[in-house]
Amino acid sequence: MSVVPNSGSGKITVPGLLQRKSKAADSQTNEQKITCLTAYDYPTARLLDEAGVDVLLVGDSLGMVVLGQENTLSVTVDEMLHHTRAVRRGTHRALVVADMPYGSYHTDNAESLRNAVRFVKEAGAEAVKVEGGERRLELIVRLTEAEIPVMGHVGLTPQSVNALGGYRVQGKTPDAAEQLLRDAHAVEAAGAFAVVLEAVPRELAAQITRELRIPTIGIGAGPDCDGQILVIHDLLGLTFDQTPKFARQYANVGAMISNAVREYCDNVRSGGFPSDAESYHAPQQTRGRKTVPIVS
Ligand code: KIV
Repeated sequence: MSVVPNSGSGKITVPGLLQRKSKAADSQTNEQKITCLTAYDYPTARLLDEAGVDVLLVGDSLGMVVLGQENTLSVTVDEMLHHTRAVRRGTHRALVVADMPYGSYHTDNAESLRNAVRFVKEAGAEAVKVEGGERRLELIVRLTEAEIPVMGHVGLTPQSVNALGGYRVQGKTPDAAEQLLRDAHAVEAAGAFAVVLEAVPRELAAQITRELRIPTIGIGAGPDCDGQILVIHDLLGLTFDQTPKFARQYANVGAMISNAVREYCDNVRSGGFPSDAESYHAPQQTRGRKTVPIVS
C-alpha cells in the first residue's frame, strides 16, 4: 500500500493546528493565528474555504441564526448532520468541525460516542465540539480513544443558558477564574486538540493561552488567543437582534439583500423585468402556431 502524505497540500489538519501553536511560540508575528468561522451551508462553506479560513465550525448557533430559534437547545443531531453534510461538500482545505447539540452527549458515554461517530461517518466531520470543562473529561477521553478529534468549549457555554441564567461574561471573580482555568486544563488533559474560550476576560484568556499546549480559539476573549472565531451571520450583518460587542460586522449583507430584492420587486411591477433579452424565443417557422416547442 502506498501512503500519500497530505502535508504540503495546504489541507488543514488537527496535527497541523497543534504545530501552529508551537511555531507561534517561536515567532514574533501573528502569522500562525488560526482563523475560524461558522458555516451552515454549501455556498457559504465554499466561499469561506476559498477565502482561506482554517476551520469551519458547523455551530449549533444554527438554531438561532439560520432556523430562527430562541436559543440553541432545541437543535437536533439530524439537523446538525444535514448542515454538516452541506458544509463538507463545499470544503476542501479547511478543517470541518461539527458541534454536538444539546442532549446528544449528556446521557451516557456509549450514546454520546454513537452520536459523535455519526458526525464522522454520515456527515464527513473531521472533529466534533462539546461544551463544558472538567465535567466532560471522561467523555473527551472516550471520543479521542475512538479516533474522533475533539474541540472543547469553556467560559460562556450557550447550551448552559438556563443553568447560567443568561449569556454573561464568565470568569470574573477569583473563584470563577480558578474554575475556568481548571476547566481549560481538564479539556487539554482529556485529549482535546483545541479549546474555544467564549466571553472570558482578556487577561484570563491570555493566561489560559500561555498555560495550555493546545490552541485556544477566542470569541469575546480578547486578542491574545491562538485563534479567533465569529458567527458568520454576525460578521456579514445578517442578524436581526443586537449583537455582542466582540462581534465586529465586516459587511452589511442584510442591507444588500433587502436592496436587491426591493429593486427586483420594483422591476417586476414596472414591467422592467424580464427584458426581451432575458426571454426565450420561438423558432421563426413555429410562430403563429397554437403549440410552441420549447427551445433553450
Ligand atoms: O455554535 C457556535 O456558533 C459556537 C461558536 C460561537 C463558538 O459554538
